[in-house]
Amino acid sequence: MTDSPTDDTPAAEPDQASRPFSPGLAGVIAGETSLGYVDGERGRLLYRGYRIGDLVARGTYPAVANLLWTGEWDPGHRLPTAPIPPAVLTVLRALPATTKPMDALRSAVSAWGATQDLPWPPTVQQARAITAFSPSALAAFARLRAGQEPIEPDPSLDLVAGFLYQLTGATPDPATARALDAYFIVGSEHGFNASTFTARVITSTRSDIASAVTGAIGTMKGPLHGGAPSEVVDQLAKVGSVDHADAWIREALARGERLMGFGHRVYRAYDPRAAALRTVAEGMEHKPDWLQLAIEVEDVALRILAEKHPDRPLKTNVEFYAAPVLMGVGLSPDLFPATFSLARHAGWTAHVLEQAADNRLIRPDVNYVGPAERDLPG
Ligand code: ACO
Repeated sequence: MTDSPTDDTPAAEPDQASRPFSPGLAGVIAGETSLGYVDGERGRLLYRGYRIGDLVARGTYPAVANLLWTGEWDPGHRLPTAPIPPAVLTVLRALPATTKPMDALRSAVSAWGATQDLPWPPTVQQARAITAFSPSALAAFARLRAGQEPIEPDPSLDLVAGFLYQLTGATPDPATARALDAYFIVGSEHGFNASTFTARVITSTRSDIASAVTGAIGTMKGPLHGGAPSEVVDQLAKVGSVDHADAWIREALARGERLMGFGHRVYRAYDPRAAALRTVAEGMEHKPDWLQLAIEVEDVALRILAEKHPDRPLKTNVEFYAAPVLMGVGLSPDLFPATFSLARHAGWTAHVLEQAADNRLIRPDVNYVGPAERDLPG
């Protein structure tokens, strides 16, 4: 059986085809937010009006998360990681070591939701609880798959340092924790991206915050959303040295490949998150050897992209400098997407709160393009 019309199939219902339709919802205004402003033309990213560069320089991830949740700027706000409920640990122990970290995180958040009382409407307390839980779950999975036992949270550490401690068993030095904290800040929030929109759709049905975050992680898992920092690492390894950069880039573009860490759907100017992370990467104590290579390759890539696409500005995006920061703090590349998801918890849950505060079921319409009304054969 097929859905596609055949010669003797009546044409689609005539009133449907002429209705406005934007594939991928591109350009459709599907909501209002006071959380984040992505200004692609001028290369600005604001959280509740504050510039991302200032938040990275003067804030911490818990302070930025609290800003997104409450609108209040309290630079001393703390949020240690939270213990893992026993039922969730049972789930994590049952997963094969080959499980992808994104699948493990999604499963852990779903199981966490099953252990909690999460009544409607969602609250800041619920947002704090899930944001504090997930780093412990990802760290526990990373240890379990390596044959190591999970580590209990250290309540004296703030969220990002606590995550690294639970991952490695050692308290990170302040510079390392600070670098990953900066990455978490720039990853917190980015408007109506696909995973955030998913979280809002789920919330709009009056479902709970754990379901919204579970769905958001599932959306972020897709390669069109989950980011490319590990591919940046691979690509720089292939370039090898700055002397080869010009030839390698030209050959890659001639093969129709894309340069990882360049271009963006919204930004036409230099991604402000890349600028903030480059500063952090350059100040890191344990810089990956190839950071200098990355800086030099970036110049060559920008020059060639400008030459090839004079009418379409293609600039560095956040992933290019996320790669050295994540490598520099000692994360394995297969943990990069799940770590990005941890950072995005602040934005997802802030959008859950914002959606719930002025809720209307999100239920768009669809143009029916199947056969017109007809009789069953025979
Ligand atoms: N390298 C080479 N050429 C590029 C790149 C790139 N990174 N990005 C865009 N182009 C070219 C395209 O080939 C296309 O050229 P054409 O018009 O001659 O066919 C033109 O620029 C426009 O490209 P689109 O695909 O229309 O741009 P879109 O806005 O859809 O793509 C995207 C945005 C997916 C990020 C793209 O720039 C890309 O693939 N970049 C590389 C992957 C990457 O870095 N992803 C991380 C993005 S940041 C994030 O998700 C958090």
